[in-house]
Amino acid sequence: MTAPLHVIILAAGQGSRMKSSLPKVLHKVAGRSMLHHVMDTARTLGAEGIHGVIGHGADQVKAVTPATDVTWALQEQQLGTGHAVAQALPAVPDGAVVLVLYGDVPLINPETLVALVSRVNQQSLGLLTVDLANPDGYGRILRNEQGKVIAIVEQKDATESQKAICEVNTGILAVTSDHLKRWLPQLSNSNAQGEYYLTDIIAMAAGEGMTIEVAQPSHEQEVQGVNNRLQLSVLERWYQRCEAERLMTEGATLADPDRIDVRGNLTVGQDVLIDVNVVFEGEVTLGNNVSIGPNCLIRDARLADNVTVHANSVIEGADVAEQCQIGPFARLRPGTRLARTAKVGNFVETKKAEVGEGSKINHLSYVGDATLGRNVNVGAGTITCNYDGVNKFQTVLGDNVFVGSNTALVAPVSVAADAVIGAGSTITTDVAEKDLAVARGRQRNIKGWKRPEKKA
Ligand code: UD1
Ligand code: CA
Repeated sequence: MTAPLHVIILAAGQGSRMKSSLPKVLHKVAGRSMLHHVMDTARTLGAEGIHGVIGHGADQVKAVTPATDVTWALQEQQLGTGHAVAQALPAVPDGAVVLVLYGDVPLINPETLVALVSRVNQQSLGLLTVDLANPDGYGRILRNEQGKVIAIVEQKDATESQKAICEVNTGILAVTSDHLKRWLPQLSNSNAQGEYYLTDIIAMAAGEGMTIEVAQPSHEQEVQGVNNRLQLSVLERWYQRCEAERLMTEGATLADPDRIDVRGNLTVGQDVLIDVNVVFEGEVTLGNNVSIGPNCLIRDARLADNVTVHANSVIEGADVAEQCQIGPFARLRPGTRLARTAKVGNFVETKKAEVGEGSKINHLSYVGDATLGRNVNVGAGTITCNYDGVNKFQTVLGDNVFVGSNTALVAPVSVAADAVIGAGSTITTDVAEKDLAVARGRQRNIKGWKRPEKKA
């Protein structure tokens, strides 16, 4: 059916078991808040409307979720899931299909939801259930002799024999807005928890002769809710395992699929090698044959084909061309752009640095606000003094410049092509093409120098 889809995300609960000042739905899985995951999933379904029902920490939730496509509904008192859905309903048009999701069930798979929503029409309601070995705490699915779903009973209202049922309510369901608008005002709170249960609409639908169409998720973890940090960690690990499997399917070798973390979107080429304990954040693209050593953090970066990153390097906001070598222990900060075959070695920090083809900064240097031509050699211990305490200044090194070790380049300064800087220099004025600049104290050797002696 082609009715517009409206997704209602319930997120008003307190989440007291998180023991946190942060509202529960703002806790993160894979670097994104749980609510963010659910909203992104709703967007992939092509929802016409996304409605967030918030209560506890409402301002905080709204503030960190700057989504222009979300309509917020405030549920001042948490009187139950049925009451929560009712708060959002006025903003949902008639003739829509409503899908109810939960802000603390972050990893629900869009395909599962598509299957659920596709079964909804005026005569049928879609209900997502799952069979659990331990159904403790969940609402149980009641079926009649023909196997048709007729009601949901909450654990606290269930008889002993009902508690033995292992098919449980995930909470996720889809139904037309017309039916919801008719049913919700009829809910009562005369039950064990004194709440208006959304689940009571199942019995209403069945009573009207509607079909309850049941769908099940492919994996239990999809419908797992988070109430405490232990459950949060279980979902985090599940998510990371799925990511690791995807990467391997796409051509990456992982030294250990259990020791990689992807917090964002990682795209890999073929024959990528990722050693243990590598964390990827934001948008990262790795070309073919990229190799990443152990213990690296890579955030918002593009590494082109055949780039090698050695152990313990941190790369952020960088663009690295083919065949570059980075690390071990290198730190590339935002605005670093390495042209092909460039090398940035150990204990080197770069920031807003353009490094030309084949240039090398191999050891113990800081290169910031700088432009380096091709085949520049920056000696160990070279520092661009780019900051006077107030302003930042540029350093420019032309093609084939050779900078001797332990040089301070006091910006703004430029060294033209083919020039050489003597080791230990403090360079404060520009150097012309092919010149040698030496700026250091002259060495004085004193013949036959008598060392001080200890008194007897
Ligand atoms: C609910 C279901 C239960 C199901 C379980 C799955 C009902 C009555 N019961 O139980 O059948 O097995 O989920 O996890 O629906 N919320 C609000 N406002 C409220 C109450 C809840 O926004 O007034 C939100 C909560 O923040 C949470 C979600 O709705 O995200 C579920 O509420 P919760 O109280 O945890 O439901 P359960 O008792 O677990
Ligand atoms: Ca409850």
